[in-house]
Amino acid sequence: MKIIPSILTGDREQFQNELLKYNVFFDEIQIDIADGVFVPNKTLGMEVQDIIPENIKISLHLMVNSPWEYITQIKTNNITSCICHVEVSADFADIKNKLVKLGVVFGLAVNPDTNMDSYLETVTNADFIQLMGVNPGFQGQQFIPKTLEKYEALKKTGKPVWLDGGINEKTIDLIRDYDFQTIVVGSYFQSGDLNYKLQLLKERLWIKD
Ligand code: DX5
Repeated sequence: MKIIPSILTGDREQFQNELLKYNVFFDEIQIDIADGVFVPNKTLGMEVQDIIPENIKISLHLMVNSPWEYITQIKTNNITSCICHVEVSADFADIKNKLVKLGVVFGLAVNPDTNMDSYLETVTNADFIQLMGVNPGFQGQQFIPKTLEKYEALKKTGKPVWLDGGINEKTIDLIRDYDFQTIVVGSYFQSGDLNYKLQLLKERLWIKD
């Protein structure tokens, strides 16, 4: 199990500050891109690639209606994974092919209210699944425990499962018995002592360095 931070902002200076801060403690960061259509919020777009340092792996979480437009703009080698939402209508087989050519791993995110029965076939295209702990769009929302009801169905696909959203020192105990490959943390890491908070989450998940 691995913990990585996420950055979700429309402000270039904040983006740079968070990158600098996270770069000290993490080798991978998830960057949230919101289009103001699929989610009611808008962030910086693919221009963030110009300010990402070489030494960090980027997981790109596309909270957008037209992922293809963003994927065709990928130009940095440090984008190692790209996550689209199962809820958007897109040709995921095509997207997968494009990402394979770029050497990028393909993830599909599943919202808390999404009924997996409709998407079990769709997720077979993905290399991993990102279960959302909140409705995407904003940091700092409350974890939705009901989303964990999808865990068994997701695990049965045989794909690694990530969890994104709503994780902090209070909610971490709700997920410690689940086998998530990666946990994505946003607002909890934004203020206070980052190293202390990271160690606290790791201890609660029995993660050893
Ligand atoms: C949800 C985003 C999450 C967010 C998590 O809109 O997709 O990645 O960054 O933030 P927290 O941890 O504050 O829920």
